[in-house]
Amino acid sequence: MNPLRKLGLLGKFNLIIAAILLSFFLLTTFLNYQQQRAFILHQAVEKARIIAFEAIRTREYLSIEYQSGGVQLSEERYGLIPVVASNRIGERVAEDLGYRIRQISDRYRNPRNAPDPFEVRMLQRFYQDPSRREIFSITTVDNERVFRYLQSFTADQSCLECHGDPGAAPDYIKRLFPEDLDQAYHYQIGEVIGAASVTIPMDQLYRQIWGNLRLDTLYLGAIFLALITGVSLLIRQAVTRPLGQLGGVIREIVRTGRFEERIPPRGRDEIGALITGFNEMIENLREKTAHLEESESRFRLLTETARDGIISFLANGQIILFNRQAERIFGYSKRDVLGMSIDQLVHPQCPSLHQLGGEAYLRENAGRLLRTTHRLVGRRLDGSAVPLEISLSVADSEGHLFYTAILRETA
Ligand code: HEC
Repeated sequence: MNPLRKLGLLGKFNLIIAAILLSFFLLTTFLNYQQQRAFILHQAVEKARIIAFEAIRTREYLSIEYQSGGVQLSEERYGLIPVVASNRIGERVAEDLGYRIRQISDRYRNPRNAPDPFEVRMLQRFYQDPSRREIFSITTVDNERVFRYLQSFTADQSCLECHGDPGAAPDYIKRLFPEDLDQAYHYQIGEVIGAASVTIPMDQLYRQIWGNLRLDTLYLGAIFLALITGVSLLIRQAVTRPLGQLGGVIREIVRTGRFEERIPPRGRDEIGALITGFNEMIENLREKTAHLEESESRFRLLTETARDGIISFLANGQIILFNRQAERIFGYSKRDVLGMSIDQLVHPQCPSLHQLGGEAYLRENAGRLLRTTHRLVGRRLDGSAVPLEISLSVADSEGHLFYTAILRETA
């Protein structure tokens, strides 16, 4: 069975509205999530780009400063080598922010700067297309979803000092990285020499997304809840309450049979029209019923005060009217006799007419019976016989034949 049937109108309305709003809510939340995600990823790219630029600019700045200031680097000042310094500064900053940054190359000088498999693939793409400066994507590293960003470095004149011809490299570089053991020499200008690689854990990004989304969802939920409540109240006020009132009045009228009750008229909407129509219909019915009652009481007065006995019965013999005079003649009370068969009022002594009430008999003999007045012997409640003179008439009410017998006792 349809469970909706048990629900009231307001319940159904509420259910429909809730379903519509919920779909809207889910759709909006989904779209919102998509938007937030796109926004956060965009932000991640921006951040990674800034971190990479910082590293590059730090390196460039230190180089220029050392050159102009005549600062001599050495094994002891290894941490001040521009690439090394910028790398280490970058690492610290990234640590504070929960990111990772490395400067990597597949021809690395320091094994700590060796690329991981993902970075190897990305470096290949930089080699294939040197005009490409950055690559980013979301991947999984050690079962962790991460956002990864790489920005390529190309060798310029300044790099060749330590990455070009090994013979021209500073002594401490040559000592630390002998030509035959190092693979980071022999670069040409414009050649891709490596990349800054930034890694941001996705859960950190998702946390931001959820953080933003939670608030939005909360506001949206509150708005939808207010909407549902508002619409529900409105529907109750405008539709279900007046309909309930209407139902109540109808039940009251059916129960009491009195057409006094009216529903206060309201606006000109459909329900207002329904109520106005209903009130008019009730007024109409009240008038008709009053007329009917009046004519019925007139009719009753007529039959009750008649000097002759009047009995009406249906074609099957069932008695439907029995006036006071008939009560007096037969000794039956109206209450007992209504619904009884007319046969029981005919004395068995009168066999030819005993079947007066029999349907077939009536049909066959109706013509004869109706034309003339008859005499027959009736039977009283106590079984005694009563001689009667009877005249029969027939009427047709809505397709049903009914007979009326007017009878008078004969001496
Ligand atoms: C003063 C010498 C010097 C100069 C100039 C220099 N580098 Fe380096 N470079 C090094 C040293 C030393 C390392 C090893 C760093 C370490 O131990 O982390 C290195 C490492 C690198 C790495 C990391 C991969 C690896 O080989 O370990 C990249 C990428 C890199 N350099 C790029 C550049 C670029 C691009 C330039 C020019 C803008 C440049 N370097 C200029 C000395 C130099």
